[in-house]
Amino acid sequence: MRKPFVAGNWKMHGTVEEARHRVWDMLQPLQEINQVERVLCPPFTALLAVANMLMGTDIGLGAQNMHWEEEGAYTGEISPRMVAEFARYVILGHSERRKFFGETDETVRKKVRAALDHDLVPIVCVGETIGERETGLTDPVVQRQVLAALADVRPEEVARVIIAYEPVWAIGTGLTPTPEEANRVHGQVIRAVLARRFGEEAAQQVRILYGGSVKPHNAAGFFAQPDIDGALVGGASLIPEAFVAIVRAAAEAKA
Ligand code: PGA
Repeated sequence: MRKPFVAGNWKMHGTVEEARHRVWDMLQPLQEINQVERVLCPPFTALLAVANMLMGTDIGLGAQNMHWEEEGAYTGEISPRMVAEFARYVILGHSERRKFFGETDETVRKKVRAALDHDLVPIVCVGETIGERETGLTDPVVQRQVLAALADVRPEEVARVIIAYEPVWAIGTGLTPTPEEANRVHGQVIRAVLARRFGEEAAQQVRILYGGSVKPHNAAGFFAQPDIDGALVGGASLIPEAFVAIVRAAAEAKA
């Protein structure tokens, strides 16, 4: 049984004060939905404040990126040791990082290895662009990204890794694949490639999230699919009632 998982990716939104308000507005209802693993991923600057507010709860905290080196002359970067002081999770290889900040399959591979070495849970993002989808390249692109990101992961570690399938064209656009289309990629592409690489039993343990315009009105449809184990939520995770509604939908669909 894979525990359902819902993470909120706040991206580059909000001051510490705004983060505190947002957490305050969702904390009580979120705490009641403990059938779902819930994770908040604020900007780095708000990690400490949010960590303090989550102390004593079972709600997890994640960063949105990190460097792979422990320390060194990397101006402006945050290391896995620094992330691990506050957080247990880290989003890696988000398409916005690939698109705007030069993230590649190779840097994602190094970051996934570094995360596991620091007892962090990597949330590895993969997904095709609209051009790749329209030219029938979704499956090979997603396969390549998964295999590259997990190239240094050992079979006994893979259950700790979380994969987020996020079609780039669905992020922040209000467009989504149908739940059936997303489930096909989760099951027949991602879980299948994990099974070939790590064995069927290990592949069955990996949580595969859907991400891209998940909202309260469409979340239940995705969670009803057998290979969709949760969601990585962007825009809607900034709105406390919306995020709580999505987490609740996961609890109900997977009960
Ligand atoms: P969105 O973002 O929910 O705003 O589409 C999802 C993501 O980028 O993880």
